[in-house]
Amino acid sequence: MTAAAEPMTGPATVTLIAAVARNGVIGRDGEIPWRLVGEQARLKALTMGHVLVMGRLTYESIGRPLPGRTTVVVTRQPGWRPSPQHAQAVLVASSVEQALALAADVDPQVFVLGGAQIYAATLPGADALEMSWVEADPEGDTFFPEVPWECWVEVSREPHQGWSAARYERSRK
Ligand SMILES: NC(=O)c1ccc[n+]([C@@H]2O[C@H](COP(=O)([O-])OP(=O)(O)OC[C@H]3O[C@@H](n4cnc5c(N)ncnc54)[C@H](OP(=O)(O)O)[C@@H]3O)[C@@H](O)[C@H]2O)c1
Repeated sequence: MTAAAEPMTGPATVTLIAAVARNGVIGRDGEIPWRLVGEQARLKALTMGHVLVMGRLTYESIGRPLPGRTTVVVTRQPGWRPSPQHAQAVLVASSVEQALALAADVDPQVFVLGGAQIYAATLPGADALEMSWVEADPEGDTFFPEVPWECWVEVSREPHQGWSAARYERSRK
C-alpha cells in the first residue's frame, strides 16, 4: 500500500523582509533602534495587498495590523487575541507551520516580518530575502539569524542614504 500524499498546505512563496544592521542587530527593547528615510516605504510597496506573518512580540511592538495587509500573529498563548477593532485584519496561529498555511490561504505571497524567533524558524524554508542593510552598528538585544549565504544569490541592490536594499533568491546550484 502506498502512503497518502501530503496535502499541499505550503504557501507559494515565503519572503523574509528585514532591516539588519552591520552587526546583525534588528531590535532593542522591543523596538527597532533606527529610523531610515524610505525604508518603511519600501516595506509598504513590497507587502501591500499581501499577507504578513509575525511573532506576537513584533505585532505588539507595531501595535496594530498594517493597513491593506492581513496579519498572521504567531503565539503559543491559546487565549491570545488582537483587540476587537483589529480582529478583522488579524489571524492567530499557534505554530509557525500553521501561520504559513493560514497565510497561504489568504494570499500566495507570504511575507515574514520577524522578529528574530520567527525569522529563525522560517529562514530554512524561505524562497527569498528582502533585506535592508543598515549602515550602522547600534546596540541591540535581538539579531537576525545566521544566513547560509552559499545558498543564496543577490539578484538586486539599490543604495539609499544610510542603507541599501537587496533582494536574495535561493541559489539553484
Ligand atoms: N529590524 C527589523 O526588520 C525587525 C523586524 C521585526 C521585528 N524586529 C524587532 O525584533 C524584536 C522582536 O523579535 P523577537 O524575536 O523578540 O520576537 P518575535 O519573533 O516578534 O515574537 C516572539 C513570540 O512569537 C511567538 N512564537 C515564537 N516562536 C513560536 C512558535 N514556534 N510557535 C508559536 N509561537 C511562537 C511567541 O509568542 P508568545 O510569547 O505569545 O507565545 C514568542 O514570544 C523587536 O525588537 C522588534 O522591534 C525588527
